[in-house]
Amino acid sequence: MGKRVEDLIILANRQINQGFFLLEAKSLIGLPVILPGQFLQVRVDNAPQTFLRRPLSVHDVNYERDSVSLLVQVLGEGTRMLSGLKPGDTLNVIYPLGNSFTLPGKGERVMLAGGGCGMAPLLYLGRKARECGAEVSVALGFRNSSRILDFSEFRKIGEVFIATEDGTEGTRGFITDIPAFRESNWDRIYCCGPEPMMKSIAKAAGERDIFCEVSLENLMACGIGACLCCVVNTSEGHVCTCTEGPVFNIRTLLW
Ligand SMILES: Cc1cc2nc3c(=O)[nH]c(=O)nc-3n(C[C@H](O)[C@H](O)[C@H](O)COP(=O)(O)OP(=O)(O)OC[C@H]3O[C@@H](n4cnc5c(N)ncnc54)[C@H](O)[C@@H]3O)c2cc1C
Ligand code: FES
Repeated sequence: MGKRVEDLIILANRQINQGFFLLEAKSLIGLPVILPGQFLQVRVDNAPQTFLRRPLSVHDVNYERDSVSLLVQVLGEGTRMLSGLKPGDTLNVIYPLGNSFTLPGKGERVMLAGGGCGMAPLLYLGRKARECGAEVSVALGFRNSSRILDFSEFRKIGEVFIATEDGTEGTRGFITDIPAFRESNWDRIYCCGPEPMMKSIAKAAGERDIFCEVSLENLMACGIGACLCCVVNTSEGHVCTCTEGPVFNIRTLLW
């Protein structure tokens, strides 16, 4: 499946919480096939410090509108500049990049576990999992209630469980403390978020011998396997997250 460089057109840019915004960008030539878990390398124009493209997950795909949605957290100059995009602006991207999550089978019980902005690649995955006939549940973890991101779209694909570290909403603690996460026999767990969170979910899944894939957000520069700055240690040696990932089965990761 070929990747392409393209100027997408911004359809909408909506702030969804302090420091988080949702971009919708349209392809004028028709979207390529995009698999859940894949990402884009986004060019940020007009600033010398944003010479390198920024990797962003595909949050959602709408083939009727030929648009992709990106859920973005403002961290530095690149994401700050992206937050100022307006409808009609162009967004130059290379996409679709990376591998993808392995889709579940019919009737399988699937848990999507997202920490903060780590929920970004899980929405499109959840939709695809539903299309496969899987039963989807969602567990989202946030620092506190003021950091909770809009999860209304997740509600359309399955039951949503929330954990906050300070207990201001949902279960107090982490996703691994949510009773439904601990008590149910999931066939598959898919996860994205801060590395400590993914490691604890991987540990919980490994102990119960549950199939588990995580999407890594290692720092990236080139995004095409040339600079080796995104290498991760696996049972198959050191591999580039940008080309061999970002999705890995926890059994292959030497964490
Ligand atoms: C495959 C992949 C998918 C991603 N998907 C998303 C997404 O959907 N939404 C989103 O908001 N972000 C996502 N990220 C992270 C995003 O790429 C970075 O936050 C962004 O590049 C920061 O650019 P910046 O110019 O704003 O900040 P910089 O000025 O480049 O960095 C600001 C601070 O953020 C830290 N930082 C930069 N990149 C990362 C990273 N990957 N992980 C943790 N800390 C980082 C830097 O160390 C620095 O402290 C993804 C990363 C990868 C590798
Ligand atoms: S980002 Fe350059 S090799 Fe992965």
